[in-house]
Amino acid sequence: MANLSVSFSFILLIATLPWTQSLNPKKPVISRHLSQKQTVTNIQFYFHDTVSGKTPSAIKVAEAPTSSKSPTLFGALFIADDPLTESPDPKSKEVGRAQGLYGSAAQQEIGLMMALTYEFTAGEFKGSSIVVLGKNSVMHTVRELPVVGGTGVFRFARGYAEARTYWFNTLGDAIVGYNVTVIH
Ligand SMILES: *[C@@H]1O[C@H](CO)[C@@H](O)[C@H](O)[C@H]1NC(C)=O
Repeated sequence: MANLSVSFSFILLIATLPWTQSLNPKKPVISRHLSQKQTVTNIQFYFHDTVSGKTPSAIKVAEAPTSSKSPTLFGALFIADDPLTESPDPKSKEVGRAQGLYGSAAQQEIGLMMALTYEFTAGEFKGSSIVVLGKNSVMHTVRELPVVGGTGVFRFARGYAEARTYWFNTLGDAIVGYNVTVIH
């Protein structure tokens, strides 16, 4: 019986130890743990950015007094909620949404500073997202954008997205192919 109660208090002590430590602000519990498992994932989809018409998916929310006179719309800021689809056809299956903002941040070319969350809504990555932050020189055939993070299966994601314009019109609407490679 004595043995039993000794081992019982011992278990109690072990069980309460980490809790006691985490309450001591002078001695924070820092867990140093390196994950060995890393995955490289390649995802391809099409991004539909519609600024014209009655139901645009990207809207101008601010601009500088000089933006409209600038050939690059320097200073204009847009908020987007753009559908991502499986193929270039706008009617093809929606796999996600790109939500966030982009602004014209270059005077000598059309260069957009993009801060967008690409959230997947269907398929293998449903509920997970990646975050793209960087400059998009839209007139270039291939643009490389940094992937700076993610959620869900893409926690700790880092990588890059290659963006290629598939189609555009004079109103500023565009369909862009994305080829994203991330380590997570
Ligand atoms: C997508 O990107 C990967 C990695 O950079 C590359 O190996 C692959 O050829 C690309 N695919 C297309 C269709 O561009």
